[in-house]
Amino acid sequence: CGIVGYIGNNDTVEILLNGLEKLEYRGYDSAGIATLNSDGVNLSKVKGRIAVLREKVDNNVQATMGIGHTRWATHGAPSEENAHPHQSASGRFTIVHNGVIENYYEIRDQYLADVSLKSETDTEIVVQLIEVLNEKLNDVTEAFRQTISLLKGSYAIGLIDSQNQDTIYVAKNKSPLLVGLGDGFNLVASDAMATLKQTDRYLEINDREIVIVNRDFVEIQKLDGITVEREPFTAEIDATDIEKGTYPHFMLKEIDEQPFVIRKIIQKYQDDHDNIKLDSEVRQAMLDTDRVYIIAAGTSYHAGLVGKQFIEKLANVPVEVHIASEFSYNMPLLSEKPLFVFISQSGETADSRSVLVRIKELGHPSLTITNVPGSTLSREANYTLHLHAGPEIAVASTKAYTAQIAVLAILAVDTAQAKGIDLSFDPLQELGIVASVMESLTDQKEEFEEIAKEFFSETRNAFYIGRGMDYFIVQEASLKLKEISYIQAEGFAGGELKHGTIALIEEGTPVIALSTQANVNYSIRGNVQEVAARGAKTCIISIEGLEQESDTFVLPHVHELLTPLVSVVPMQLLAYYAALHRECDVDKPRNLAKSVTVE
Ligand code: G6P
Repeated sequence: CGIVGYIGNNDTVEILLNGLEKLEYRGYDSAGIATLNSDGVNLSKVKGRIAVLREKVDNNVQATMGIGHTRWATHGAPSEENAHPHQSASGRFTIVHNGVIENYYEIRDQYLADVSLKSETDTEIVVQLIEVLNEKLNDVTEAFRQTISLLKGSYAIGLIDSQNQDTIYVAKNKSPLLVGLGDGFNLVASDAMATLKQTDRYLEINDREIVIVNRDFVEIQKLDGITVEREPFTAEIDATDIEKGTYPHFMLKEIDEQPFVIRKIIQKYQDDHDNIKLDSEVRQAMLDTDRVYIIAAGTSYHAGLVGKQFIEKLANVPVEVHIASEFSYNMPLLSEKPLFVFISQSGETADSRSVLVRIKELGHPSLTITNVPGSTLSREANYTLHLHAGPEIAVASTKAYTAQIAVLAILAVDTAQAKGIDLSFDPLQELGIVASVMESLTDQKEEFEEIAKEFFSETRNAFYIGRGMDYFIVQEASLKLKEISYIQAEGFAGGELKHGTIALIEEGTPVIALSTQANVNYSIRGNVQEVAARGAKTCIISIEGLEQESDTFVLPHVHELLTPLVSVVPMQLLAYYAALHRECDVDKPRNLAKSVTVE
């Protein structure tokens, strides 16, 4: 699910392939590019990786413009046929598209009854419609505009016309898309990372705008044809941030970066007197609300579960945490003065955005906590808190998760202090200790590699158990393991296991228990006994002060509320080494996408 486009004088094929490689982290299952020169369009598509596409593409093709795409299947299986770019019946128009066209059937039945469709994708409908309308209008820009006006759903689109070597036609709604500006060339990309090698200057495109991209100029228009003037912005990502360096995988690099990210967050949210410094509007929003609604998906949802504990326990504000895709269709009763907090690494998750659109219509205030400040969720919410984690490339989120938890802790502490609640600890100092402990854990990778080998080399399934705060971490631990090693794993509340799931415990079933909370240390150990008695192979990760001799690993001491930040590190490493030893594609697990821009 990524788009790249280039128009200029350089090596188009290489720029497109390199751009797609930079978008690989977003997840995909097929890929393709189309270039245009005086001989016409040159199209290459494959099922599978960009490396396969590279082999297939004719590198000798000289072209000065083209479009490329990575596809994460939504309509139609991953296959060469369904891969983008798609072409119109005559082959004149070639398109790449991200998103989902909701009125696919209406358009097909109303406008394309006479066209025989080649693929099962909603995208082909768009390019065929452009051709049909252009036959009538004999004006490509107008045919493009009218097509876009008819589309319902989400899209980021790049279109080329084989009879015009000067223009890429671009449009977007809900799905992310940027135009990159160069000297004598211009680019199109789903995110800035695809094209950082070429430029750091970008134009934001708003929903339902179309853009005419030539070599020397870019024109943004509204659907009614009115031209829009917009200042470019500079992407503040360093091209070296998105290189692996000496690391075998981005995931390992990002796990290792966590202590630095925590220190960066401390520095960014600290004033000259070492106190927490937060945007005063965010503080006021927290003071004004009677209930916080956290909305998120995947790993960010798990960070939200931890955040709820901070905000309720420290700041005494009630919090509900909701899975975005559920909230959209099944909204609970809201309190009188709700504040919506969106947690999203990418800031682009369509499920979360659809909630944001709904609650804005209802007039409720919103705060986005994200790693990408210019992202859709950040732009559209009232306030943003930045994670400062640097680009996260591995599909399985690690440093963004810990950054989310740290920022949520800061938000909770700030609210508590603004309410005059006396906290008996210095939060920034405690976060500093967390960073050092994280570092000591990432220095002991071999220990976790050994545990992973012992517990996960052969197994079909695995269980993680925890109570209280640890319950939220084991949910994240099991998600990490599932995502990248494909071991069927579940994170359970220790006490709940005996009410059903314990039936799954067999001789040798791995059960990893986490015990970092004093009030449940005794009971979680009881739960470990219950599964051990039924044949489970058990491992306890505990913390200094609560440890027992038989524990597999003992974490150094940190403040009890902040334990999630350190206890998750061994869990991330266990998942990493499990995937590594099972020879899985750690950074690009099957079927997953880094930022899911479809609902
Ligand atoms: C995708 C990713 C997950 C991620 C989730 C939410 O499903 O594969 O790793 O946690 O989206 O993403 P966000 O960018 O909103 O945090």
